[in-house]
Amino acid sequence: METIIKKINREKLKKEDFAEAVDILRSGGLVAFPTETVYGLGGNALDKSASAKIYAAKGRPSDNPLIVHIADKDALSGLAEEIPLMAWECAKYFWPGPLTMILKKKPVVPDSTTGGLPTVAIRMPSDAVARMLIAESGLYIAAPSANASGRPSTTRAEHVYKDLAGRIGLILDGGETTIGLESTILDLSGEKPVILRPGYLSREDLLPILPDVEYDPAVIAKTMQKDIVAKAPGMKYRHYAPKGNLTIYEGEQKAVVAAVNRAVEEKMGEGYTCAVLATEETKGAYTCPVVKSIGGRAQEEIIAARLFDVLRSFDDGGVEYIFSESFPDGNLGPAIMNRLLKAAGYQVIYVGAE
Ligand code: TXA
Ligand code: MG
Repeated sequence: METIIKKINREKLKKEDFAEAVDILRSGGLVAFPTETVYGLGGNALDKSASAKIYAAKGRPSDNPLIVHIADKDALSGLAEEIPLMAWECAKYFWPGPLTMILKKKPVVPDSTTGGLPTVAIRMPSDAVARMLIAESGLYIAAPSANASGRPSTTRAEHVYKDLAGRIGLILDGGETTIGLESTILDLSGEKPVILRPGYLSREDLLPILPDVEYDPAVIAKTMQKDIVAKAPGMKYRHYAPKGNLTIYEGEQKAVVAAVNRAVEEKMGEGYTCAVLATEETKGAYTCPVVKSIGGRAQEEIIAARLFDVLRSFDDGGVEYIFSESFPDGNLGPAIMNRLLKAAGYQVIYVGAE
C-alpha cells in the first residue's frame, strides 16, 4: 500500500483537504492525524474490523485498548453509560484537551476497541485538524499513538511515515504537535478518580475539580522504582524505546557529567557508537562526540515537546548506547520521567557527589 502524506494548512482549514481522509475512514480504513499531544492512528471506533487493522498496522497486542476520540462533549453519552457527574465536570473544564477519561462502555462499542474491557477510554482533542477530521467524518475515531508498537510516539508526520509507511493509506501532516506527550488518563469508572497515565495535565491540575484524585499506585511505583538498576532492555516495561541501549544517570549535575563521560569512554573503547541526551546547562561539559541538548533544565514544556523527537533522532544516527540526564520534578516531571524511564527499560544509575 502506498502511503500518502497530505499537508494541511492550519491557517486556512478547508473541508476539501479532509475529503480523502473522510472517505478512507468511512470505508473502514486508517488515517494518521495530528492531535495536540502526539499523532494518532485513526479508524472507525464502532467498526470491529477497523480496530483490527489498527492493531495490525502498529503490531500492537489486541488486548491493549484504544482511545476513542470525539469532536463534541455530548458524544460522551453515545459511548459511555452510568456517566458520573465528575466526568461531565471534567469535560467542562478540561475538554477539549489532553485528558482521556475511562468510563463504563455502552454495548455499541465493540470489544475489539476496548481490548475486551467493560470500560472505554474517551478523549476530545483540542487540535483543530483532529477536530475537523472527526467532525467531518461523523464518526467516533479510535486512535492509539501512531507509532509502531514499542517505539517512541510520533510528534511529526515524518515520524509516522518512518514507522507505518506501506501499512496505512494516508497521513494528514499538520506539522509538529504542540504538547509532545500523550494525554493524562483518568479512570472514572470506579468509586474514586485514579490517574492511570501521567500526562500534560498533572494531579495538581485536576485537584480543583477532583479533590480526591490519586495516581494509580502502579504509576507511582514505576516512577519510583529508581533503585532497580540496569534492568535488561526489552523487558516488559520497555516502551517508547529508541533502538540503542538507553541509561538514565541521576544525581548531582557535575557527578552525572563525570560518570557519563567515563561510561562513554568505556563504550567507545569497545567500539560502540555513543550519544548523550543533555541539557543547555550541561551540553558543553560532555566529551562524547554526539551530544543533543533537549532544552534548558527548567524548560519542561520544551523538554516534553522534544523528548520523542530526540529519542528517535538517535536511531537515525545508528547510536548503540545513549546516556541521558534525568529531569526535575516540575508539573510535567512525572509525565516526562514516566516516558523516559520506560524508554530506558528502567535502567537508572545513581551517582553521588564527587
Ligand atoms: O494523547 C493521547 O492519548 C494519544 C493521542 C493520539 O490521542 N493516544 C494515545 O493512545 O496515547 P495509546 O493507545 O498509545 O495509549 C492509550 C493508553 C494505553 O496505555 C491503553 O492501555 C490505555 O490507554 N487504555 C485505553 N483504554 C483503556 C481502558 N478502557 N482502561 C484502561 N486503560 C485504557
Ligand atoms: Mg502509545
